Amino acid sequence: MTERFKASPSVPTKRLSPEEGVERAAELLLTGRLVAFPTETVYGLGGDATNGEAVAAVYAVKGRPAFNPLISHIANVAVARRLGRFGRMAEALAEAFWPGPLTLVLEQAPGCPVSALATAGLTSIALRVPAHPVALDLLREVGRPVVAPSANRSGGVSPTTAEHVLSDLGGRIAAVLDGGRTVVGVESTVVACLAEVPRLLRPGGITRAAIERVLGMALAEAPDGEPNAPQAPGMLASHYAPRARLRMDAREVDPGEAVLLFGRERPAGLERASTVLNLSESGDLIEAAANLFAHLRRLDATGAAAIAVAPVPEEDLGEAINDRLRRAAAPR
Ligand code: TXA
Ligand code: MG
Repeated sequence: MTERFKASPSVPTKRLSPEEGVERAAELLLTGRLVAFPTETVYGLGGDATNGEAVAAVYAVKGRPAFNPLISHIANVAVARRLGRFGRMAEALAEAFWPGPLTLVLEQAPGCPVSALATAGLTSIALRVPAHPVALDLLREVGRPVVAPSANRSGGVSPTTAEHVLSDLGGRIAAVLDGGRTVVGVESTVVACLAEVPRLLRPGGITRAAIERVLGMALAEAPDGEPNAPQAPGMLASHYAPRARLRMDAREVDPGEAVLLFGRERPAGLERASTVLNLSESGDLIEAAANLFAHLRRLDATGAAAIAVAPVPEEDLGEAINDRLRRAAAPR
C-alpha cells in the first residue's frame, strides 16, 4: 500500500545519483512515492500514472489545480500506443521527435490504465517520450507510465537543476535523481492531434517551424479566451512566475531593477540596475532557453522588487521563451 506521508513537509528528500539511484527511484515510484527526475527540458515531479493516490499526491505537493491534467511519460512509442490512439499525424510527429521535447495529446486508447485524475477526467491523454538518458532508464525500470509536471510549486519558476527541486519541494517528496543541469531549459511543445489539423497548445522545446515541416501544414492555434479550459495547457494566465514583478520588452531600466538581457543590446539606464544577467550574450536562442529559468531564479533571489527583461525575438525557441515570460509577467 502507498504511504500517506506525501504532502507532509517533513520527509527528508534523498538525493540520488543517476549511477546508483535509478533502481531505488523506480522502487519508490512503484510503491506510490514521488520522485523528481531530470528530463532534457526541466525536472519532472514523477508519480505512478496508474496509481490514483500517487497522482493525487503530485497535485497536492505542487499545489496544482486538479483540472489541469498531467503528461504521462513513457519509454517508447510502442508503449505510448497502448495509452493513446495514434493517427497518421501523431505517428509522423512521434517518429520525427521522440525521444524529445514534444508532448502529443491524443484520444485515450481503449483500456488505458492511466488514472482519470491524471487526465482530469478528459477522454484525451498527453504523452511524451523524454530524451534524457536518466529519464529513459527510469521509465524502463518502472515499466509503467509516469506522470511528471515540472517539479516546482504550481505557478512558480520551473526547475532546471536538482538544487532548484530541493529548494521548492525538499521535505515533500521521497527523492530527486540528480542528472545535472537540463539542456533544453523550456518545457516540451504540446500538440493536440484530436482533429484533422493538429493544434499547438503550448510552444516549447521543438519549434513550430520544425513541426510544421514534418506535418506539411500549418498548426492550428490554441483557443484563447477561457484561460482555465483544460484544452489550453499551461495556459493559466499567470504561471512560471518569480516573486518579483516582471516587465517584458524593457528598453530602459528603472532604478534598482534586476535586468535580464538578451544579446548585445543594452537598455538605457542599465547602470541603475541592481543586478544584470544575460540569457545569451551572442543572441543564441537555444542558449537563452537553457538559461531562462535559472536566471529568473537567480535574479529573484537577489530580492529585487522588479525584473526588467530585454526584448527576445519571437522566432524559433523565442516563441516558447516569450510565452513563459508573458505568463511570468501576467497579473496575479
Ligand atoms: O517538458 C515538459 O513537458 C515537462 C517535463 C517534466 O516533461 N512537463 C511539463 O508538465 O511541463 P506540466 O504538467 O507542467 O505541463 C503539461 C501541460 C499542461 O499545460 C497541461 O494543461 C497539458 O500539458 N495537458 C496535459 N494533458 C492534457 C490534455 N489531455 N489535453 C490538453 N492539454 C493537456
Ligand atoms: Mg509547469
